[in-house]
Amino acid sequence: MTSEGSWVHLLPLESPRLILRRFASVDVQPFLAYRSDPAVARFQGWESISLAEATAFVARQEAQPIGEPGQWLQIAITLKGGGKLIGDCALRVHAPDARQAIIGITLSSLFQGQGYGQEALSALLDSVFARMRLHRVQADTDPHNTPAWKLLERLGMRREVHSRQSLWFKGRWADEYVYGILRSEWLERRPFSVYPSIRISKNERGSWMCKVALKINKAGMDGKKVS
Ligand SMILES: CC(C)(COP(=O)(O)OP(=O)(O)OC[C@H]1O[C@@H](n2cnc3c(N)ncnc32)[C@H](O)[C@@H]1OP(=O)(O)O)[C@@H](O)C(=O)NCCC(=O)NCCS
Repeated sequence: MTSEGSWVHLLPLESPRLILRRFASVDVQPFLAYRSDPAVARFQGWESISLAEATAFVARQEAQPIGEPGQWLQIAITLKGGGKLIGDCALRVHAPDARQAIIGITLSSLFQGQGYGQEALSALLDSVFARMRLHRVQADTDPHNTPAWKLLERLGMRREVHSRQSLWFKGRWADEYVYGILRSEWLERRPFSVYPSIRISKNERGSWMCKVALKINKAGMDGKKVS
């Protein structure tokens, strides 16, 4: 937990078309389907998974404490109305410094190219910056993964590093792009329309003030001042 926000309340998150929530046993089959798709796996650390592995993964994620430094939290991306799982995004708070984190995302091929990636990561970034007050978020990708780095740039993330052949990956030396964005940068340019339940303004000292309407959290609909 940061000193400002409680990770327990991070999920669920709502955006115009999506609900981001914890994984549940109902997700095993759709998760297995997209994790076994070679096109989805191409730039990921896996090739495919078995039903037993998918079941164990979901069970682990159901119990994974949110925001635990050094541990990946996998977040289910689901469609509003019906709750269909279309992919997942991931968040790992840094172990040495819990004010920073790394993110990742995977969408089923059926749901790529429709802006769902941007919508999901915008909701996540909005929440970790405005509510959890993270200082910096990073994302790494293969330069050949054009949809991924285009998405990161669409989010306003900055390409900070291009490492040459820094990773032995699926039988080849792969380059890596490292993207980063600071809290101040996100709050300056955030797309208000994506996650309108957080209202942000600067106070007289130039510090960011965040008011959150926790629309679908148990805390209710009341606006809550978090900083
Ligand atoms: C990386 C990944 C999530 C990107 O998905 P994506 O669908 O391209 O990204 P978005 O959801 O932001 O969609 C953007 C595309 O949707 C289009 N789009 C359609 N409707 C849209 C809308 N309402 N809003 C925004 N974009 C929209 C955009 O024009 C854009 O297409 P373009 O790139 O051809 O211009 C996806 O390719 C993926 O899951 N890949 C496999 C896993 C992977 O490699 N993950 C990354 C590991 S680092």
